[in-house]
Order: sequence, then structure tokens, then C-alpha cells
Amino acid sequence: MLGFIHFGNQLDLSLAELGNFIDFDRKCLYDNFLLFNNSKFYDLPYDSMGGVRAAYRIVAKSESEFLSYLSRFDKADDKKHVLLDSNFMKPHHLRKMCVGFNNIKFKYAFKATDYRPVRFQNKKDVFVYILKFKSQVYFLEAFFIANAKKYAIRDYKKPYRDAKLGMLPPKLSQMMLNIATNTNAIYDPFCGTGSLLMEAVLSGTKNVYGSDYKQENIEGTDKNLFFMQRKFGLNFQSNVFMQDVTKKFNDVPNFNALISEGYLGKPLHGNEPDNFLKAQMHTVFELYLDFFRNLSLAAKSDFELVMCYPIFPKIAADSDASFFNLLGKISEYGYELEPISRQFKIKTALYQRNNQFVHRLIFKLGFKKV
Ligand SMILES: C[S@@+](CC[C@H](N)C(=O)[O-])C[C@H]1O[C@@H](n2cnc3c(N)ncnc32)[C@H](O)[C@@H]1O
Repeated sequence: MLGFIHFGNQLDLSLAELGNFIDFDRKCLYDNFLLFNNSKFYDLPYDSMGGVRAAYRIVAKSESEFLSYLSRFDKADDKKHVLLDSNFMKPHHLRKMCVGFNNIKFKYAFKATDYRPVRFQNKKDVFVYILKFKSQVYFLEAFFIANAKKYAIRDYKKPYRDAKLGMLPPKLSQMMLNIATNTNAIYDPFCGTGSLLMEAVLSGTKNVYGSDYKQENIEGTDKNLFFMQRKFGLNFQSNVFMQDVTKKFNDVPNFNALISEGYLGKPLHGNEPDNFLKAQMHTVFELYLDFFRNLSLAAKSDFELVMCYPIFPKIAADSDASFFNLLGKISEYGYELEPISRQFKIKTALYQRNNQFVHRLIFKLGFKKV
């Protein structure tokens, strides 16, 4: 059963995520498309996979086959909406190919990054992608497409929001969760507004724990989790409590994986002088060092951890406060770097967006009690 996965922009993270669900060969990758040949790809939990933009089945391998595929929709009683995009055909070429189908409403070159036209996001819509993949052309129909509207509900409609916290994108939360191997019970010790815990419960985690050193974030996270319970009819247990990670931990919940965005420094506007950014790097470094030590002292058993470390692209890495220096220091507490994907030999991945002044280095650690 041939088909294609269309990844988003964070390729390394997306590969690590998918590799945790199913085996595939990296040789079948071309740009952001993966060719698969296994019917199990049709049953993956795509809605909770942040790295997959769309998944397609092949409907035709030549233009004439494709036109006869389209003619089925032309004969249907209800007017179909067909969205057409391609990685090599221009909109006017697409338009020319589809003249003569009077009972289909076409929209051309909708750009895979932006499936926003809500009008086109209902069950009647058909998403078609004409793909040139290693010099062969495939005509594809999506059986999964990332639903921007659904993401927006939990990102913008949650009752407690705080733009100053930087807002962890739901897709990144999903990828971080999927990089961990066991997410039955997870803990976020920098929970903020609870974005990560919200994604965890949506993907089926039954026990979530969160802490923060600000009372308003504890109450806010509780509110947001309650919102998820009601909005999506979910069933889970949660416990959100106060904990300053630079202080001795009062108690640590029983969790399988610690997954957290962590502290990324003060919110930035982009005009900060270098010495301010350097000071931020050192503050974050010291905070993480305290956090890892305090956690190791209080942890009841071994666990795995997926977190972000801030990278300030405007300034050169300061080796004293670098992530690798941190790794060296925390190894004596029992932490060891694990690749985010062993299969594809991806150690860590950088999550970056053009308009951001701080990037996130995504890493995974194993903790063994010493
Ligand atoms: C980047 S935010 C995390 C945001 C969260 N992922 C979200 O989407 O809302 C970092 C969080 O770390 C918390 N924090 C900073 N220093 C802390 C400390 N010493 N102990 C515990 N939490 C701390 C902040 O209050 C903030 O909520």
C-alpha cells in the first residue's frame, strides 16, 4: 500500500516522532515527503502527531488517470470542493488541467503550510497534491490533513493564557510527547499555562502532574485542564502544585516521563544588547543546574526526560553556559543524553521559527538513580 507522509518544517523532530510509532527507511525521504509501503501507515494517530502536515494515498500515476479520478466528483450530486496543490506545478498549469469539470469547485495552490480556508475544511472537501518525487509524478489524495482550526481552539480559546510565557506551540508539545517512550504518567515542572499537559491528556495520557513557582500558573493550568476535560470529554487525573525548582523538592510525583519546555529566560523584543543576552544564558544555565540536582535528589525511580534548552541566535555560544557544558555537569547526578532518534542517529534538534529571538534545542535524557 504505497502512500506519502508530508512533514512540517521541523524535519528532524518529525522523523524522530514518526520513528517512535513505526519503522521506515530514511532513503524513502525526499524533501519533506516520505514514501511508505505499509498499510499500517493508514492507522497512525496523526491527530496527535505535531510533525505530520498531511498523509496521502495515491489515486493516479498519469494525467489521464487523474482526470478520470476527477470525473467521479464531477458526476456527484453535491458540488465537491477540490483543493489542488503541487510541489512543481504552477497555479495556472493546475487550472488548465482542470477545465471542463463544471460541477467541481477548485481552489488552486492552497499551499500546504496554510490549510486555513475554513470554507474548505469540512468533510466534503478533497485535498489533492500533485507531487514530483525523485523525477516520478504522483497524484495524491489526503486521508489526513492537520486541522488548523482544532489546533487554534486549544491554543487561543483556552481560558488561561499568558503571552509573556512565550506560548509553547501545540505541535511542538505533541512532538516532544511522542519522542518519549512511555507517557502513561507525565510531569511538567515548569508548567506555565499547562500547554504541554493539555496536549498530553488529548493524546490519551491518564495521569498528568504539573508544577510552577507562580500561584497564578497553578490555578491557570488547573482551569485549562478542566477546559480540556469538558471541551473534549476526556478522562484523566491531574495534580498541579507549587514548586520552585531551585529549592529542595517537597515531593515528586510518580511519573514515567518528565516533559517540559522549561525556562527560556525573560521574554525578548529583539533589541537587547549582547551582554543582556549573555547574562540570560548564565541565569538559565544556573537555574537548570539547580533544577537537575534538586530533582535527582528527590526522584523516586529512573525516568526519561524531554526538554528544551534556549539558544540565543544573536550571540555566539558561550561555552561556560552551553548545553554541552550543562550535560557534563549533570552527568554526575545520573543524567545521560539519549538521542531523540536512535534509528536515525539524531541526537538533538533545533526548533526555530523566523520571528523568534530565542530558539529551542530539544533534547532527551535518561535518568538513573545513583
Ligand atoms: C517558558 S515558560 C513555560 C511555558 C509553558 N510551556 C506554557 O506553554 O505555558 C517557563 C515557566 O517556568 C516557570 N519558572 C521559571 N522559573 C521557575 C522556577 N525557579 N521554578 C519553577 N518554575 C519556574 C515560569 O513561571 C514559567 O511558567
